[in-house]
Amino acid sequence: MLINNKSYRTIWFDEKIHKVKIIDQTQLPFCFSIVTLNNLKDVINAINKMQVRGAPLIGATAAYGIYLAYRDLKDKSRIQKEANKIKNTRPTAINLFWAVDKMLSIIKESLPPSIIEKNLLDQANKICEKDIERCINIGEYGLRVIEQIHQEKGKVNILTHCNAGWLATIDWGTATAPIYFAKKKDLNIHVWVDETRPRNQGASLTSFELNNENIENTIIADNSAGILMQRGQIDLCIVGADRVIFSGDVVNKIGTFLKALAAKEFNIPFYVAIPTNTIDWKTKSFVNVKIEERNQDELRKVKGLNKNNQLITVDIYPKDSIAYNPAFDITPKKLVTKLITNKGIINPNQDEILALKNVRN
Ligand code: MRU
Repeated sequence: MLINNKSYRTIWFDEKIHKVKIIDQTQLPFCFSIVTLNNLKDVINAINKMQVRGAPLIGATAAYGIYLAYRDLKDKSRIQKEANKIKNTRPTAINLFWAVDKMLSIIKESLPPSIIEKNLLDQANKICEKDIERCINIGEYGLRVIEQIHQEKGKVNILTHCNAGWLATIDWGTATAPIYFAKKKDLNIHVWVDETRPRNQGASLTSFELNNENIENTIIADNSAGILMQRGQIDLCIVGADRVIFSGDVVNKIGTFLKALAAKEFNIPFYVAIPTNTIDWKTKSFVNVKIEERNQDELRKVKGLNKNNQLITVDIYPKDSIAYNPAFDITPKKLVTKLITNKGIINPNQDEILALKNVRN
């Protein structure tokens, strides 16, 4: 998608230098900077520091991490240890584990190291291409939802939470793909962007990417959606997910649950847009999902521009106060209208989710 009218992906393999390139998301929206990942250590650092973030992008970055590790080590027995290091970067987004396991299955093959190395790079590239395809499919299916409301109302006000846009994926995004498709069809849409404290992915990333694509949007404080819903100013909610348990419950950025509760109260459709590799096919209950707890400094400190246009960080809490910062929450399936997947729109229940395994696309 576009940044300053130039088309980008969030991650790519630079064939000329044989290295991985990413957009550093910690600098957005103030500074656009491309960072090179030379080796596994850089990959781990980029995920830990959230230079890359968002479930699908974390998965793709991890895949390149395995490729770089193998290229540098050429030692099957050490790769498992390195893979564990990547898996330990972020606990909640399932795409990370999915991608690492997919890469490890290639290493297990009895092939010459040079072939394994090539296959690993091909697989990491394929994970990116497939992700784009999945997001496009989500966009096509999700467009139908927007079109239907548009037919009734003539304008659709969509609420989204966190960044589940193209910056969380490789291109297009999950929750935003239907929005971009609606824009292409000239539908009258407006997006309410939850700021998404503490890291402000909504304000810093979603609004930034929508601005770059010329999509009308307004940032709201995370607590504002209730009154907007009450006043009829939100027609539809679309969020992404870091993991959907195969029983239908949704794990997503902290604050999603409260939005879903409010939407239920006002009968506003609440959709979750996901690629099928965000489904956790193994975990039976959300109580077994590890919810990432992030440093309290994310709450205590705020980053912004000073009057000299320098990026600075300031404290906003009393210095003796303690903060608690869980990064994700669980939205029970009963609050979710439907899941928009790359294989179609389904109800969030075990039967329909398991049936996706048999759907080709
Ligand atoms: O902590 P982050 O920024 O990696 O959060 C993940 C997310 O971007 C969201 O929870 C998102 O809505 C799902 S990923 C498409």
